[in-house]
Amino acid sequence: MLTNEPNSLHKLEPCAEEMQLLIQQAANLVINYLSNITNEPASNISNLDSHLTEIRKPISEQGLNLDKVLPLIDKHVIRCAVNTAGGTYQAYIPGGGIFASAVGEFIAAATNRYVGVWSIAPAAVEVETSVIRWLCSSVDYPESARGILTSGGSLANFSAIVTARRALLPENFFSGIIYASDQVHASVQKAAMLAGFPSANIRVIETDKQFRINPSLLLTAIEKDKQANLTPFLIVGSVGTTNTGAVDPVSTLVDIAKENNMWLHIDAAYGGFFVLTERGRKLFKGIDKADSITLDPHKGLFLPYGTGCLLVRNGELLKQAHQVGASYLQDLDLTEDRMNFNDYSPELTRSFRGLRVWLPLKLYGVASFRQYLDEKLDLALWACEELKKIPGIEIIAEPQLSVVAFRYKPKTGKLTTANKKFLELIIATQKTFISSTTINGEVILRIAILCFRTHLAEVQATIDAIKSAIEIDA
Ligand SMILES: Cc1ncc(COP(=O)(O)O)c(C=O)c1O
Repeated sequence: MLTNEPNSLHKLEPCAEEMQLLIQQAANLVINYLSNITNEPASNISNLDSHLTEIRKPISEQGLNLDKVLPLIDKHVIRCAVNTAGGTYQAYIPGGGIFASAVGEFIAAATNRYVGVWSIAPAAVEVETSVIRWLCSSVDYPESARGILTSGGSLANFSAIVTARRALLPENFFSGIIYASDQVHASVQKAAMLAGFPSANIRVIETDKQFRINPSLLLTAIEKDKQANLTPFLIVGSVGTTNTGAVDPVSTLVDIAKENNMWLHIDAAYGGFFVLTERGRKLFKGIDKADSITLDPHKGLFLPYGTGCLLVRNGELLKQAHQVGASYLQDLDLTEDRMNFNDYSPELTRSFRGLRVWLPLKLYGVASFRQYLDEKLDLALWACEELKKIPGIEIIAEPQLSVVAFRYKPKTGKLTTANKKFLELIIATQKTFISSTTINGEVILRIAILCFRTHLAEVQATIDAIKSAIEIDA
């Protein structure tokens, strides 16, 4: 029966005191965890079955109090994992997840502002737009550039490929060919596939000794395809690669793309934010001439997972690739100079991602991020020098950014088997968490330093774990 009297429907709308309590209890969990994070094991996935049993308990009709649910989250969810927020996490590509960004995310989610179109929340859209403007200025993009915040680098690469396709190819685009190095991130292949390209339309270009794309092989491949009446239209460069942090020669790629009327996309999901440092700026020279750039704030800006970014030099082309009108949006102010993110992105309804980037930047300023990023570059150089001192360790790639690739060379036995076992021994220490990859059929180990909580002590712990693994294996 409908009535204005308070009834059981109040449950989804806690009163002010109940909200305070909810927040306080949740904040206690988080603060307790984060203030002790340096003492947490690097990974802790033991007794998995008991944790999963707790999580799988059915959702009840009547619900539980938060003080019953929070310990479940704390003990069985947060602590049963690889500690991806900790400085010990030096695998894949870390970031850490700065607290101020989580606070921004909480405010955005709790107030639930709608940022798909300008006129519903113009100021919230402006927050996101000003983040995009700042990102564009960081790579020296012109005023005409536009961008979107995405869920991550994969979706940014996807929108980039669709934008390049729409800008340069006809509706029937099956003659279009994409070029990338043998070190490009798998999300580029996935994006091409999702954008409709058969795998036969992707050319894998070999890399040099430092794992950077070989420009003369790229040119040869482009020429060969032209002669076969195919349409070379997109080059994807990396700054840097996930495997070894290799930085492709951006200026050369800019020239090749220009001479051949092709689109140059730079996947800077891992390394892009090093552009804030002097060393990164030098290394990425020419990036301002790329047609599009993927950045990943949940890596190099240390944000919690869930924020990527695509910037497009000629913003109009990003819009042309994504804009589709709809009659039910006709009441909205869709004036051309308003930023309606839904015209630039695959999403209509989207979370207010801008706040989780904007708040930490406002609070700490760009200089703080630059300082942390510079520290990561120094730590990678330091780790490489320490590794060189360890007998039995061979450096595979000196750090161009903040990844060091190396392998263990045992006195006897197969390299692949030995390195897999070696990695297990390192991880078993629970003092560090690193990962492996395969290059030219060989298993390689890598230390990836990008979490804002990774400092000298944490990298020293990795070096110590490597030394102790060698002793055990000897
Ligand atoms: C170079 C590079 N590109 C793209 C991606 C994909 O980004 P995401 O995991 O945010 O989707 C990654 C992820 O590690 C990466 O390192």
